[in-house]
Order: sequence, then structure tokens, then C-alpha cells
Amino acid sequence: MVTKGAIAGEGPKSRTASIDETIGHDASILSAQLQVLFERLFSPHAKKSLRRFTSSEVAKLLGVTDSYVRHLATQEDAVTSEKTANGRRTFSLEEINGIRQHLGRTKPAYLPGRREGDHLQVIAVTNFKGGSGKTTSAIHMAQYLALRGYRVLALDLDPQASMSAMLGFQPEFDVGDNQTLYGAIRYDDEARDVREIVRKTYFPGLDLIPGNLELHEFEHDTPRALADSERTDNGLFFMRVGNAIAQLEADYDVVVIDCPPTLGFLTLSALCAATSVLITVHPQMLDIASMNQFLAMTSDLLSVVKEAGGNLDYDWMRYLVTRHEANDGPQAQIVAFLRSLFGERVLTSMMVKSTAVSDAGLSKQTIYEAGRETMHRQTYDRAVESMDAVNSELEQLIRSVWSKA
Ligand SMILES: Nc1ncnc2c1ncn2[C@@H]1O[C@H](COP(=O)(O)OP(=O)(O)O)[C@@H](O)[C@H]1O
Ligand SMILES: [Mg+2]
Repeated sequence: MVTKGAIAGEGPKSRTASIDETIGHDASILSAQLQVLFERLFSPHAKKSLRRFTSSEVAKLLGVTDSYVRHLATQEDAVTSEKTANGRRTFSLEEINGIRQHLGRTKPAYLPGRREGDHLQVIAVTNFKGGSGKTTSAIHMAQYLALRGYRVLALDLDPQASMSAMLGFQPEFDVGDNQTLYGAIRYDDEARDVREIVRKTYFPGLDLIPGNLELHEFEHDTPRALADSERTDNGLFFMRVGNAIAQLEADYDVVVIDCPPTLGFLTLSALCAATSVLITVHPQMLDIASMNQFLAMTSDLLSVVKEAGGNLDYDWMRYLVTRHEANDGPQAQIVAFLRSLFGERVLTSMMVKSTAVSDAGLSKQTIYEAGRETMHRQTYDRAVESMDAVNSELEQLIRSVWSKA
């Protein structure tokens, strides 16, 4: 154990510790203790898994009646399910997707996702304010779409990697060198094929490109690459995220990007890759003031990118009000203010602040994973209702883009 005296230096020969040493020391003790803590909390062999769904949940997901789901389960060999001790039928997401395939043979509407000629949609969830609800919105949108049968890729560009943790990969322990998108967008010859970086998750239909601190390297490398005019092979920084995603085009319907809380090269490259942008806004005066800076700076930087040849065409852009509290007067004023300024660019539905969301988050779950029986019913129902309303509005936007094709 390192003592305080050993760090600060004591006695006549003492010297002032330099900040790098102290921070370095704190990093190493924290890392060691975290490892211990995680091993205690989550056994190394414990893997996340997705719960099963009741017939009424399945009915809601498919847009049919509960009795029709039970009829299919008993009458159709192609439809499998399990029976609980009390006689209830439950379905895994694979089994739900099996029902979609089965019904889709006669009614293609049961198979969502894009058709030939529809483009892959890349949705960047962004705002440089930490805590504005980016990760919560991104992960719930990704899971909502996967539950409805879309092929979804979650792309974690935040070095803090909370989305990866939610999807079962601890950034510090489970994600090694060159295993984030950095591996595919780096400028040197260590760059690898993005297809090797994509991971399956425990959530059927939802794949992940995880993040960790390594992503930060892109912010350091890019100015060097830009200065190195001799190099012709380094590509334009703002094309790099999009070029990597293009390699995966055939495999997905929607890519959801959780952007870092900074306005750096990664965020700019993600915005160039995006076909749509979702800006999360926590309706508080300070947050709105910083959003003002965010919008002005983003616009300035993007206009430079556009002059350099970046493609900034997009299908839609929306603001999402997050952690909304219906009884909070000042919040209501800010929401009204946003709506009067931005009109239809503010989503009608808002994500309510709910202990169901934050409590589920403590065990790295979304409310879609958590299940109704684990929570106070009313709290859970209200949270799911709000989250579903937001995501169904987003789904409509996504579908409207495709139906234009
Ligand atoms: N609707 C919500 N209700 C309650 N807590 C929320 C809600 N949305 C987010 N939070 C909590 O707020 C914090 C910040 O949200 P997060 O999505 O991580 O923001 P960001 O990714 O922008 O930093 C997290 O601790 C999260 O659990
Ligand atoms: Mg986040």
C-alpha cells in the first residue's frame, strides 16, 4: 500500500509532488479497487442476458391481440415459446422475431426494416453538455427498434462508454486496444477492418461497436494528420466515421451513435456520417445557455467542413426534451420557449424524469429490460409510456424517410 507520505514527500528531503504523479497514483489505486469491486458485483462469468416477454408484451410489439399470440403459440409449429410454472407463456426476442418471420410470409408488413432502395439511417445523438440524456436516449432508441425487429447497430463514440457498459461490455476490462471505432478510423497502418470490431450483444438484432478511452486518440491524431500535407493517404477526418459505417451498410437498418460530450473531431465526423441528428435537451436555464453555444459552435465548425467538401445533407433533425418534470413551472416555461423557437423540430413527446429509468440504470438496464414485476407498477408504466411515445415518434420519422424512396 502506498502511503500518503510517500506521495507528498515528508521530512527535510520532501519535494512537492507533481500533479501527473498524484493523478497517476490515484488512477492506479482506483483501477485496482474497481477490479476488486467489479469481481464482487459481477462475477467474471456472469454475462448479461435478455429476459423473456409475456404474451401481452409480445402482442404490443407485434401490433396484434394477446389472444392471437397465444393462439399462434399453441397452433403453429413454427412458433415456439415456454410455459412458466403458473401456465403463462413467455417468449424470447428470438422467438418474437420467429413470429415476425412466420407472419411476414403472408403479410410483409410484419417485417419492418428498410426495403430495397431505402438507405441506411445513421442517427447521431448529440449535445456537448454531459448529463443531457444522450446515452439514455440512444440506448432506449436502439433497444426499442431492435425489439420491433429492426437490425440495429449501436456505435459508442463516447470515451466514457456508458452505452457499451449498458450493453454488457465494461470499457475498462472488456474492450482492448484497437477494439473501438478508433481501430477503424486511425490514420496509421494499425488500422483494421471495421467488421472485425463489431460485436454481437446479448440483445438479438442489436450489435455494438464499443467505446473506451482510446477513442480520445482521434482528437490528438487528427491535427497531426491535417498538418502533414505530404500524406495523401490519410483521408479527410470528417469522412472517416462515415467511411467506416459504409462498410457495414448491408447489415443494418439503423445505426445509433452516442456522441461524446465534446465538440471535437469525433463529433464532427459523426455529424458528417449522420443522416439524422437528435439533440437532447434538459430543460434548465443553464443547459439552454450552453446549448446556445453548442449550436453556434457546431454551425461554425460544420460550415468549415462543408467548404472542405463534407456532405451535410440530412433527413431530419429534432430536439428531444429529456428528464422532463411535469410539475416544474420553470421547466414548463423553457419547454414552451423551445417550442415557440424551433416549432416542429422539438419532438412532441418528452422523456419524463423517472426513478424507473435511473433505478434500472443502476444495474445497467434500460426500462425495456427491467420488466414490470421488478418495480413499482405505476412508476414503471409511466416511464415505459413516455419512452415508447418518444421512440415511436422517432420510428415514424425513420419510416417516413424510407417510404419516400
Ligand atoms: N428519464 C430519466 N429519468 C431519470 N433519470 C434519468 C433519465 N434520463 C437520464 N437519467 C439519468 O441522468 C444521468 C445522465 O443521463 P445520460 O443519459 O447518461 O446523459 P449523457 O449521456 O448526456 O451524459 C444518468 O445518471 C441517467 O441515469
Ligand atoms: Mg453519455
